[in-house]
Amino acid sequence: MSSTEDTEFTNRVAFITGGGRGFGKAFGQALAQRGARVVLADIDPVAGEQAAAELRANGGKAEAVVCDVANEEQVEHAINQVAANHGGIDILINNAGLHSAAYNEPLAVSGIAKLRRLFDVNLMGVIICSMAARKAMSGRPGAAILNISSAAAYGCQTAYGVSKLAVRGLTVTLAGDFREDGIRVNAIAPGLIFTDTIRAELSPELVSAVKKQQILDREGEEKDIVEAMLYLCSARASFITGETLRVSGGFTLQV
Ligand SMILES: NC(=O)c1ccc[n+]([C@@H]2O[C@H](COP(=O)([O-])OP(=O)(O)OC[C@H]3O[C@@H](n4cnc5c(N)ncnc54)[C@H](O)[C@@H]3O)[C@@H](O)[C@H]2O)c1
Repeated sequence: MSSTEDTEFTNRVAFITGGGRGFGKAFGQALAQRGARVVLADIDPVAGEQAAAELRANGGKAEAVVCDVANEEQVEHAINQVAANHGGIDILINNAGLHSAAYNEPLAVSGIAKLRRLFDVNLMGVIICSMAARKAMSGRPGAAILNISSAAAYGCQTAYGVSKLAVRGLTVTLAGDFREDGIRVNAIAPGLIFTDTIRAELSPELVSAVKKQQILDREGEEKDIVEAMLYLCSARASFITGETLRVSGGFTLQV
């Protein structure tokens, strides 16, 4: 990215959780490049600030805020501050999530404390951020929430998959609840996508096992998820709400 351009996203305010790296940063880059004002909300202050600085260096309007999506007070404070400074919020991307690799084990091995934190971040985080942003988004033209589920939600071999199945269900619930505010709510279920974290976490054996379960024989890339985000947050998707779009190369497809 080297400059910004005028698009339907110009001057729209986008609040992206887990914005410091991976998908969140890539979503921020794509929206900032298209003229949006991007807020990167991350529990890691260094990652968030570095990502925002990178976007600004490329001509984007970007800032970082620090919050844990599972913490109501922190989320409300961050969202209210952004709404007060910028007049409202148009796009909320509930992307922050704890990852599959750390939960690729039986429930008894994880233990209750680790499982509670998983559901607090991956599920309650989506509820907390959506409820906190509702007022700031209500009635704004094209207002859209995008949740990040996972292809793991379709198999549910791990607690991680269950947390992401709940995100799919919640996407339907929120779409109904927020209809009266004119806010569409959709989700993306990515397959295995090669972010820096995934490259560092997954063994080559697991990567090749996943690829064997895809229909398409190539690695998923961040830009595949970015394209889906741009579509679902745009006016082109104005008749779509409550849906989860799989972007997975056909990973473990079932009818
Ligand atoms: N990469 C994949 O292959 C893949 C596949 C399916 C789903 N997903 C989902 O996509 C989302 C992003 O994945 P990624 O690969 O970009 O992850 P990542 O680990 O690279 O980045 C996640 C970011 O979220 C932040 N974060 C973590 N917990 C947080 C919290 N409680 N509050 C605020 N910020 C927090 C981290 O600091 C980090 O910057 C996650 O929800 C993940 O489960 C990823």
